[in-house]
Amino acid sequence: MTTMYVPRDAAACSVGAEEVAQAIARAASARGDRIDIVRNGSRGMFWLEPLVEVATPQGRIAYGPVAPEDVASLFDAGFHTGAAHRLCLGPTEEIAYLKKQERLTFARVGVTDPLNLSEYEAHGGLRGLRAALGMSSRDIVEEVVRSGLRGRGGAAFPCGIKWRTVLGAEARPKYIVCNADEGDAGTFSDRMIMEGDPFVLFEGMAIAGIAVGAAKGYIYLRSEYPDAERTLALAIAAARQASLLGNDVLGSGRAFDLEVRRGAGAYICGEETALLESLEGKRGMVRPKPPLPALEGLFGQPTVVNNVITLASVPIILDKGAKYYADYGMGRSQGTLPFQLAGNVKRGGLVEKAFGITLRELLYDYGGGSASGRPIRAVQVGGPLGAYLPESRFDTPLDYEAFAAAGGMIGHGGVIAFDDTVDMAQMARYAMEFCAIESCGKCTPCRIGSRRGVEVIDHIRAGRKPAANLALLRDLCDTMTYGSLCAMGGLTPAPVVSALDHFPEDFGVSPAKKVS
Ligand SMILES: Cc1cc2nc3c(=O)[nH]c(=O)nc-3n(C[C@H](O)[C@H](O)[C@H](O)COP(=O)(O)O)c2cc1C
Ligand code: SF4
Repeated sequence: MTTMYVPRDAAACSVGAEEVAQAIARAASARGDRIDIVRNGSRGMFWLEPLVEVATPQGRIAYGPVAPEDVASLFDAGFHTGAAHRLCLGPTEEIAYLKKQERLTFARVGVTDPLNLSEYEAHGGLRGLRAALGMSSRDIVEEVVRSGLRGRGGAAFPCGIKWRTVLGAEARPKYIVCNADEGDAGTFSDRMIMEGDPFVLFEGMAIAGIAVGAAKGYIYLRSEYPDAERTLALAIAAARQASLLGNDVLGSGRAFDLEVRRGAGAYICGEETALLESLEGKRGMVRPKPPLPALEGLFGQPTVVNNVITLASVPIILDKGAKYYADYGMGRSQGTLPFQLAGNVKRGGLVEKAFGITLRELLYDYGGGSASGRPIRAVQVGGPLGAYLPESRFDTPLDYEAFAAAGGMIGHGGVIAFDDTVDMAQMARYAMEFCAIESCGKCTPCRIGSRRGVEVIDHIRAGRKPAANLALLRDLCDTMTYGSLCAMGGLTPAPVVSALDHFPEDFGVSPAKKVS
């Protein structure tokens, strides 16, 4: 019996992985070959998807990108024994893109069957939870504090400090809410975890629950992730069956269970307080802070709200210790981050590396430069509210503080590249338009300011009173930055002002750039 791996990840399926799996099954049965097809997560090398792997005595051999019509020639070549073929990429683990990564959170993604709990355990799963079950709540929280883990959803707030606040709150019940809204364009790390290794998220949430005294968790899932929803439902059933979830977590006598709630399809529902409103069945409007959700969150109760990657990074910390995790990274940015390379790059995908790697390394060593073959002119890091950075900033290390000092924001780790045909005035307009569409409407600087922002940029682009309108645009950005209730309106000026500062020629401020 030969084991073959064909991803069921949504990105792989979008380029035909399902059809490839069926073609392999048909070809094998027609030839009388006995094969076992495991539907794994994606390895995160999207230009190679559908990536088929074959288990051989020498390890897993990769073939890709495989189309259904390649399957016959693959069998003819003997690929079920790992034989040579024009699509053969050699041992998967030796592919440079993968080999140079530091996969802690993504250690099992693409490696194991996402729904097989015994395989999860055989690859290091449940060790963190078992360790946590033998510790006091305070010790768990302090271990997470010492690891330096900061929120991976955007704001980079220290995870352990948030947990400490919830642990100290007296009200009962308490809740764990996993923010799986993943609204930033070009990001997909949350989805890849949920589809590729859902148990690591459950384990992280159970550890959080045991640490702060919460027996109930919710995963607020982006509505555009139906594949993740299916995988989560199957994984929850398997986890309950094996007592990873339920009234008696791993036989400890402690309870922790969770439910998935589908999001409302709005970017603002990723903001934690709007998310809580939505989870309570209301329209996703931002709540003023204080009170902090840690003290008065879901249904007014103490609540941990953490991103998927934050929670999925916890099990390895409890398993290997805070120091092991904190030894990765630099400065106050400890551990690793799964960067997501998208936009105009040759090799888009997921790159988990310790903090400190530079944008240039990500864009060129991993991304292989632009897909169009033209120079990369601008990069937006940290989602639609992140600044646009020019080439002169590509050597800044990706560390929260160093990056902020260079005018950027790491956020959820999305990296979107643009070549030299991009019109940055159009991108600035897009940022304002995005805010106008996605604003929750609660405060004036954001609701009205973003609409006026679109108009002012239109005037500038049309050459109407450019000097006066440029001054007005900066003034408006100032008002939005300092007068908005949340980071939606507060950060929308970041892409606009960075486009103005770094690419003034696109606004007609200096001679227009030449594009050959
Ligand atoms: C407009 C807006 C959208 C956001 N969208 C997300 C999101 O999709 N996913 C996420 O995890 N955090 C998002 N955040 C950040 C959350 O408000 C919050 O900081 C996060 O869920 C806390 O978890 P963490 O500390 O683990 O990052 C968003 C924030 C804002 C202002
Ligand atoms: S800044 Fe925008 S999204 Fe945030 S509260 Fe104000 S109107 Fe709502």
